Amino acid sequence: MDSLKSCTAPMVSFPSGLKKLWTGVPMGNSKLINSKSRVVSGARTTGALHLGHYHGVLKNWVALQSQHECFFFAADWHALTTDYENPQKIQAHTFEMLLDWLGAGLDPKQCTLFVQSQVPQHAELHVLLSMMTPLSWLERVPTYKEMRDKLKTKHLATYGFLGYPLLQAADILAYQADIVPVGEDQISHIELTREIARHFNFLYKDQGAPVLAEPQALLTKTSKMPGLDGQKMSKSYQNTIDLRGDPESTTQKIKTMATDPARARRSDPGDPQKCPVFALHQIYSSEQTQAWVQTGCTTAGIGCLECKKPLIESILAEQSVIRARAEPYKKDPDLLKDILQEGSKKARVVAAQTLSLVRTRLGLTVL
Ligand code: TRP
Ligand code: SF4
Repeated sequence: MDSLKSCTAPMVSFPSGLKKLWTGVPMGNSKLINSKSRVVSGARTTGALHLGHYHGVLKNWVALQSQHECFFFAADWHALTTDYENPQKIQAHTFEMLLDWLGAGLDPKQCTLFVQSQVPQHAELHVLLSMMTPLSWLERVPTYKEMRDKLKTKHLATYGFLGYPLLQAADILAYQADIVPVGEDQISHIELTREIARHFNFLYKDQGAPVLAEPQALLTKTSKMPGLDGQKMSKSYQNTIDLRGDPESTTQKIKTMATDPARARRSDPGDPQKCPVFALHQIYSSEQTQAWVQTGCTTAGIGCLECKKPLIESILAEQSVIRARAEPYKKDPDLLKDILQEGSKKARVVAAQTLSLVRTRLGLTVL
């Protein structure tokens, strides 16, 4: 059967196009990655995305969509695990995020875009896996304690919050995914997913071939995308530029960015290494422009506003492409809904195949 995947073949190789994008090390040893590989990844719905999401995650997804069978979903249940007190924001957040995905170039003709809560099979698999998942496995997931301590103001002694990584495991295992592109912070979740798959396959091994495929994490190059203050770009540092930000506020944000404090006056030389503006030049500007900054800054040959100008131009150009691609869907939200409905339907069909195998193993086939 198609959805039964062998867990042998110890080789791992990358299609050449991917080598550039990934730092490599897929975790685990199970499968040959090829063009038929199935890719699954999701993102919590937190609203409009920023340039850090684009350079750290979305560009990689866009590259994967033309080489593999890809499923990307808005993890709205995951958002509820921490934001259950504000459910009224979830739908708007989902739509904003999907607009960003489409703007970034995810193409519903090439990949399946869907919403987690529209595919109940994730929940069914979650509940079935919860029967055989030792509590200690969940309690020792490092992100559990970290997030609980970080979000002290919220009441997170909930069942859903502890079970978050198991829900993520169900998200992945429901599709027999081969590859899960994620950032480093998610590695422990993928490791747990693999452990759960092995545990399930071991418990029910007497009844035939393994049912659940062990996925591999495909690590996204640690995104060093700097924010307006030189720290990593992140909503919690309030140093972000929105993916579909408008030209005026984006220009204003960059114009008012702090620079090397040594350049108090136009005639004072500075050091680009100490300047968050240069960190952004390293992402957006050619070698030539970077050299121009280096010389101009250290000799006080250019002023800071002058230095920021090409950067502003590049960022505005990038945003305008993304905004333009998202525009038709923004204007006509029904288009967006159609994509999500269509995608969720496709996802349900695939996930249902896995669930049917799982149910059989667990003796849950009465009719
Ligand atoms: N936990 C992930 C995050 O916070 C989002 C996520 C949910 C996910 N389910 C997933 C990622 C399945 C990959 C695969 O970013
Ligand atoms: Fe920063 Fe450019 Fe000003 Fe140098 S010239 S301090 S790199 S903004």
